Amino acid sequence: MASSNTLTVIDNRTATRYELPIENGTIRAMDLRKIRTDSDDLGLMIYDPAYVNTASCRSSITFIDGERGILRYRGYPIETLAQHCTFLEVAYLLLFGDLPTPDDLKNWVSEITYHTMLHETTKKFMEGFRHDAHPMAMLVSTVAALSTVYPKAREIHDPANRLQQIKRLIGKMPSIAAMSYRHSLGFPYVYPDNDLSYPENFMNMLWKMVEPKYVANPVIARALDILFILHADHEQNCSANAMRSVGSARTDPYLTTAAAAAALAGPLHGGANEAVIEMLDEIGSKENVPTYVKKIKEGHGKLMGFGHRVYKNYDPRANIIKRTAENVFAATGRNPKLDIALELERIVLEDEYFITRKLYPNVDFYSGIIYQAMGFKPEMFTVLFAIPRTAGWLAQWQEMLTDPEQKISRPRQVYTGHELRQFVPVEKRVPVLHTTG
Ligand code: ACO
Repeated sequence: MASSNTLTVIDNRTATRYELPIENGTIRAMDLRKIRTDSDDLGLMIYDPAYVNTASCRSSITFIDGERGILRYRGYPIETLAQHCTFLEVAYLLLFGDLPTPDDLKNWVSEITYHTMLHETTKKFMEGFRHDAHPMAMLVSTVAALSTVYPKAREIHDPANRLQQIKRLIGKMPSIAAMSYRHSLGFPYVYPDNDLSYPENFMNMLWKMVEPKYVANPVIARALDILFILHADHEQNCSANAMRSVGSARTDPYLTTAAAAAALAGPLHGGANEAVIEMLDEIGSKENVPTYVKKIKEGHGKLMGFGHRVYKNYDPRANIIKRTAENVFAATGRNPKLDIALELERIVLEDEYFITRKLYPNVDFYSGIIYQAMGFKPEMFTVLFAIPRTAGWLAQWQEMLTDPEQKISRPRQVYTGHELRQFVPVEKRVPVLHTTG
């Protein structure tokens, strides 16, 4: 009688029976290697394009129950953290595993604040970008360039060294983001003001003009901090996976974070909020929503800001953002795109096509509308996402580096190309019709 915590597999090619242990609802892919037809056979592999059903790590950072719309960082519901914490408190929680005591928090905030300045050469580096460079491309390149400023960051096995780079990255991210914004407007760079809180200082670096001291609107500062909390981590998403994968090669944290940010830049990931605004512009008015939805259902593109690989009920972050939007609009005036967005959500949530595919608004659907009301251009939206996600990436990176089971990330493939081919000298080759793709 087989143990109840096992999977029995019968290989019909050889009529052999195997018992595979089940742990935490998973079997180990390497256990399948023993399922072989003969001694030349490498063993059975899992074919899982896009890792749809593959757990790549054990993690104790973020918990998501996509069916029930639950998101927790280190066990705390996102709703509670968004209501009671600051972003830096949440960053501490993600990185150290527990909420900080008052003293811990004071030290943490002061250490992060200490690292907000950029080296003057980094400032010059950023000045070299074209006036119309995309701020996300500037951010990715500049974070990578920090690797040249802090060569000791390569010593990734030293925990104290790692912590120092973590503080630098969390401290400098808003400075780089703000500089990329000011660069695109042709405004001079504003140096950090360390009297201000993390979101207030970011606003100072974005929007200070000639006034001697920038005073942030507290409603906007709190809304930004809440948005930072909501975006701080999201377990093994595309960019976290990039962070772990690139970091597994023992690359330094600046280059690794740049790789994660590059993944975030894509329109199917963090770039979606920018695409949402473009979509709402294209729709133009509430009356055009049904025609637009019909077009999507006929297979012409995707509804940006809808759908999620994991959430198949609702995205809890989208609910909090929707509520935060009301406070922001009370301070900034209502973004007229909100009416189009609300109508789109209403129609889609009643439509069979979207109901059967479990497509609900995700975090990006409303965040862009708030950012725009705050005065950001759509090109900046993903940059705003990258600032807080840096804390999550770094928590994932540390966890990967300190996990004894992890090694260099390297998937297998199912080879579908040619068998051995005969080489033909260049002068004897005939044209072959190639399709792109
Ligand atoms: N609009 C219309 N149809 C959609 C959408 C959408 N936004 N998303 C998925 N579908 C359809 C697919 O066409 C597919 O239909 P089919 O079964 O008839 O082929 C079905 O729903 C399942 O979709 P998948 O592509 O298998 O879902 P997947 O988990 O691979 O994709 C993703 C998730 C990438 C987020 C997708 O829903 C999407 O492209 N959404 C729009 C972009 C977006 O908002 N991204 C932000 C995600 S949140 C974040 O990264 C922070």
